[in-house]
Amino acid sequence: MRLKGKSALITGSARGIGKAFAEAYVREGATVAIADINLEAAEKTASEIGKNAYALRLDVADLSSIEAAVKAVEARTGGLDILINNAALFDLAPIGEITKASYEKLFSVNVGGTLFMLQAASRAMIARGKGGKIINMASQAGRRGEPLVAVYCATKAAVISLTQSAGLALIKHRINVNGIAPGVVDSDMWDEVDALFAKYENRPKGEKRRLVGEGVPYGRMGKPEDLTGMAVFLASDEADYIVAQTYNVDGGQWMS
Ligand SMILES: NC(=O)c1ccc[n+]([C@@H]2O[C@H](COP(=O)([O-])OP(=O)(O)OC[C@H]3O[C@@H](n4cnc5c(N)ncnc54)[C@H](O)[C@@H]3O)[C@@H](O)[C@H]2O)c1
Repeated sequence: MRLKGKSALITGSARGIGKAFAEAYVREGATVAIADINLEAAEKTASEIGKNAYALRLDVADLSSIEAAVKAVEARTGGLDILINNAALFDLAPIGEITKASYEKLFSVNVGGTLFMLQAASRAMIARGKGGKIINMASQAGRRGEPLVAVYCATKAAVISLTQSAGLALIKHRINVNGIAPGVVDSDMWDEVDALFAKYENRPKGEKRRLVGEGVPYGRMGKPEDLTGMAVFLASDEADYIVAQTYNVDGGQWMS
């Protein structure tokens, strides 16, 4: 067990990739807060995972909700060891049709949520003096722009940049900040992504999902479970000397 006795908070872990991370962390001996804006779904996920998972309502776009979630984890487990900034929203539109509302929503959840969760978690970790691990979910979308996906791509590029700055700032406290950049992962998010591409690229539903899978060098879309090895490794003691990096786990999509 590589995370025995550790206390983790995973944002947006009621479903998808975050849920797979929570399952893997509990298997490795951690206690995990399933922290999601959808409390009902978080409670269901926590009860499926078992006694070492518990649900918290968290809106990463709300500072008071962030503070309350970190305090709740400390009260329940005695301190926070691992944070995964996983919650994010997706949207797409041609450049000429991007709305201010969509821009603000994506930046406040994907970038602000990552920054202010990281801030609250690192304050708690510094006060406790035992270091910690913070993992930010980036994306291949943060490596390169896409014509219809300007805002989401920009948020994920910002996550890679924040990972670098926070990684450099916090390592003196023995807090490792690193990131994971998945490619295309077959999660519930892709129901929304596929529907939006169908609308803007005038495709039948399901076609974009099939095409992106065929385009992955590995030969298929990723599954949430394909990412858990990296998430466990980066949270473990084996990653103590890894600082401010973002790793591609994408079946060969991007090389950097
Ligand atoms: N699915 C992919 O193809 C893919 C590819 C690259 C990167 N990613 C990234 O991986 C992460 C997980 O993606 P996923 O596909 O599992 O997403 P998902 O949409 O399936 O799950 C996201 C979860 O976040 C929660 N959430 C949304 N807003 C929130 C908020 N304000 N506060 C707290 N929780 C909130 C949702 O309720 C949901 O449970 C995201 O950061 C995403 O950008 C996904």
